[in-house]
Parts: sequence; C-alpha cells; structure tokens
Amino acid sequence: MTIDDATNQKIKETASALSSSNHATAITGAGMSAESGVPTFRGPDGLWTKYGEPDDLGYEKFQADPKLWWENRLNASYMPEMRKALESAKPNDGHIALAQLEKMGYIKHVITQNVDGLHTDAGTENIVEIHGNSKLLRCIQCESRYDPKNITMESLPPLCPKCSGLIKIDTVMFGEPIPRSVLLTSQEQSQLTDFMLILGTSGVVYPAAALPGIAKQTNGATLVEINPEPSALSSICDIVIQAPTGVALPALVKLLERKTV
Ligand code: OAD
Repeated sequence: MTIDDATNQKIKETASALSSSNHATAITGAGMSAESGVPTFRGPDGLWTKYGEPDDLGYEKFQADPKLWWENRLNASYMPEMRKALESAKPNDGHIALAQLEKMGYIKHVITQNVDGLHTDAGTENIVEIHGNSKLLRCIQCESRYDPKNITMESLPPLCPKCSGLIKIDTVMFGEPIPRSVLLTSQEQSQLTDFMLILGTSGVVYPAAALPGIAKQTNGATLVEINPEPSALSSICDIVIQAPTGVALPALVKLLERKTV
C-alpha cells in the first residue's frame, strides 16, 4: 500500500512528537493483529458481528460451576476461526515495527488488549496484556500464570499448585474484573505517559478505553491514533493516521534514528 502525502505528513509529525517525548507508550487492539490473520471483534468481519457479543455472565457462569465450564471448554467448537488463527498467527510488520521502536528507545511500555502474544513474539519486552494471554492459564486467587503443559486436566476444575485456587484461562472473560496487578500496571503506565500511540482499537471496551484519557488528563499526553477507520477515541487524539498499522508503523520507524538516552 502506498502512503499519500497527507498521511506521510502526519507520520512525520508523529515522529517529531515521539522524538521529544520522555515516556512514550502504546495501547493496542485487535486491528494490530488483523494483518496476521487474527479476526477483529467489531466491524464487518468481526467475531461479535458474526456470533453476537457475549453477555456479561461468562465469569459468573465459570464461578458457579467451574467443572462444567472446563468440560465444555475442553470439548468446545466455539469460534473455530479464532482458535485456528491463534495457533498459527505470526507477527506482522506492525508488531515488528513497534518492537523496534522499543529497542530504539522510544516506546517504554505496550498495553495490549490482544490475547495472541504476537507483540512478545515480535520482540516487545515491556508489555502488559490487559485482557490476558490465550496461551496461558491463571489462578484466580494468587494470579500465578501457568503454561497449560504444566497443569493437569485429569481432575476438573484444575487447581493452582501454589495456593489450590481455581485455575481458569488467562484470557479475561466477560464480567471478570481485570487482574489487579495488570490493571495497576496499565494505570501507572498511562499516568507516566506523555505520548501514546493508539493502535488498531475501536476504543469501546473499558477500562482499556479509559487509559488514553488518563494519559491526556495527567500529563497532557500527545495521543496518536493509527487505524484505517475512525474509532471512539479519534476525537481526543492530536493526530489521526488513517492507515493500517502494518503500513504506518514501519514508515514511522524509517523516519526515526536510534534515540540516545
Ligand atoms: P475491535 O474489533 O473492537 O476493533 C478493531 C479495530 O481495529 C477497529 O477500530 C478497526 O477499524 C481497526 N483495524 C482493522 N484493521 C486494522 C489494521 N490493519 N490496522 C489498524 N487498525 C485496524 O477490537 P478491540 O478494540 O481490540 O475483549 O476490542 C477490544 C476488546 O473487545 C477485545 O480485547 C475483546 C473484545 O470484546 C475481550 O475479549 C475481553
């Protein structure tokens, strides 16, 4: 995809603002992984558009009968395209460029709503997965995370080897509070931020959608959105780049030289 002059100009403005920032962060959503073949939730081909948005009772149902929940889970064929995509997806040029921005000293932390782990696969090191990670399990009591390989499913529900708490998928369910440590890190990072990239999110799911506003209110942070479509956050952004992240982020990297800190 070629970048038009107006978009190029906005990417230059973004490079300049990012260069003069002290604590830049990024918040990412499903659009960031669209170019890796992972479906988004909303929009024409979105999973919720196709299946309907789940009600807020997911976590309540899990807590009411965790054994039944796990039995259903292990047999489930719900959203097969998501399962398949998560198994085989690889980082795209956008993930790789964002990881480069961290290595170059620009981006200090990534807050992602994605559960696919692709930022980490691309090399991003400082990251908080606010909606969890689809490849991990988590104890709801002590918040320890486990590789599923290390947790037996012989007796359901699985229990935490450390504290005997209930084990669930790490992915945050509808109606489930964001794990405390994860929420705290996201809020702390947003309060430190003086420049935030808002990448591939519709900005309608809270508390994640509130974080750019926190950055703006606390530090007057410069907010830059990269998304081919307008989002619920576009109106509070200082720069809106209407392009795929897999195109705009590599263009941004090209404009920046290694930051000396
Ligand atoms: P959405 O599906 O709501 O929004 C995806 C956004 O990505 C839209 O604004 C698209 O315009 C944009 N987009 C599509 N392709 C893109 C591309 N190549 N580059 C950049 N942007 C692109 O996804 P989220 O905002 O992440 O929560 O949704 C938030 C939460 O809602 C998810 O984490 C999930 C869902 O319910 C849970 O499952 C807990």
